[in-house]
Amino acid sequence: MQTLNVDLGDRSYPIFIGTDLFCSDNLAPYIRGNQVLIVSNETVAPLYLDQLKSVLPPVQIDDVILPDGEQFKTLEQLNAVFDRLLECRHNRTTTLIALGGGVIGDMTGFAAACYQRGVNFIQIPTTLLSQVDSSVGGKTGVNHPLGKNMIGAFHQPQVVLASVDVLRTLPDRELSAGLAEVIKYGLVYDDCFLDWLEENMSGLVGRDASLLSHAIYRSCELKAEVVAQDEKESGVRALLNLGHTFGHAIESCQGYGNWLHGEAVAVGTVMAADLSQRLGWISSDDYQRVVRIMKMANLPVEAPQDMTPENFMTLMAVDKKVIDGQLRLILLKALGKAVVTDQFDPVLLQQTLTRFAS
Ligand code: NAD
Ligand code: GLY
Repeated sequence: MQTLNVDLGDRSYPIFIGTDLFCSDNLAPYIRGNQVLIVSNETVAPLYLDQLKSVLPPVQIDDVILPDGEQFKTLEQLNAVFDRLLECRHNRTTTLIALGGGVIGDMTGFAAACYQRGVNFIQIPTTLLSQVDSSVGGKTGVNHPLGKNMIGAFHQPQVVLASVDVLRTLPDRELSAGLAEVIKYGLVYDDCFLDWLEENMSGLVGRDASLLSHAIYRSCELKAEVVAQDEKESGVRALLNLGHTFGHAIESCQGYGNWLHGEAVAVGTVMAADLSQRLGWISSDDYQRVVRIMKMANLPVEAPQDMTPENFMTLMAVDKKVIDGQLRLILLKALGKAVVTDQFDPVLLQQTLTRFAS
């Protein structure tokens, strides 16, 4: 097992990465009182809920099983968590455990942020995407019909347990979606990691456990550094949103759940690379490298055919990075070096939108 630390003073916490991490030693020290509520969904619970329960200390253990899917990441479904907490009389020392992918992690974290004005929670991410990104850093929340992740809070977990063996049951399409976020770290911060990903992509797609462990470790290491510097996203953390402004527009336009988050991010990243090339910041070879690595990970590189430039502009206008009506995008100055900027010619943005959506 490898351990990383997210350094946030008295709210610091460890990330454990490895195999077979469901054990009492990794959980008991992070359970504060004598009550636990496990939040999971109808796909993940039959696979791992009993195993998790069997290693928890002898406390009151309740669970709530939500329907599976991004379309259920809503305030309505969050109420089911609050109902269960109140029915089972959980008090302020309770610990919530998120057992699932990013949807369950984001919802459980938000429930923990709100219940009795804030209780502890533990992240047990079970998708690659949630292991490399959403379980770390304390962004929690739900979607609104008018915008993705628009209702939420920053609330850090007590511990993150990324157990690589649970990825064995993950569908191929979901594994690829997670690889989109892994590729993001290489493109934003680390060209050596990008080289490594190119060299090892077929092994990663083939679920080689030691390659996956390294990809998760390096991704979490980069994310932990960024979160420690800028927990509430007033600066560098925004760079982690490479591809997300275009991607969130795709997810919202297509109806939550139809395009996977990672798939939308993959296309959004290609669109950001296209605009970066039009601005003269990266070469055409660099652009082709971005397209190629997404394809190697079995990810889409073209936007949905029914989207128009107007769809993109309307949906991107509600992005959380918009300030005073000014759209800001994460673009590439080079592979391995991203910037957040509003300094782009709107005509070039229009050209990118027309290239991908018309
Ligand atoms: P997800 O939670 O919907 O999980 C994907 C699918 O895999 C689901 O059907 C799920 O039931 C299933 N699944 C999960 N683990 C499994 C396993 N081990 N075996 C078999 N099936 C399994 O999607 P996701 O890609 O994990 O997360 C996407 C969500 O994360 C989005 O809502 C996105 O907005 C959010 N997100 C949040 C952050 C953050 O910083 N908080 C960062 C990135 C993404
Ligand atoms: N996934 C982007 C962030 O956590 O900031």
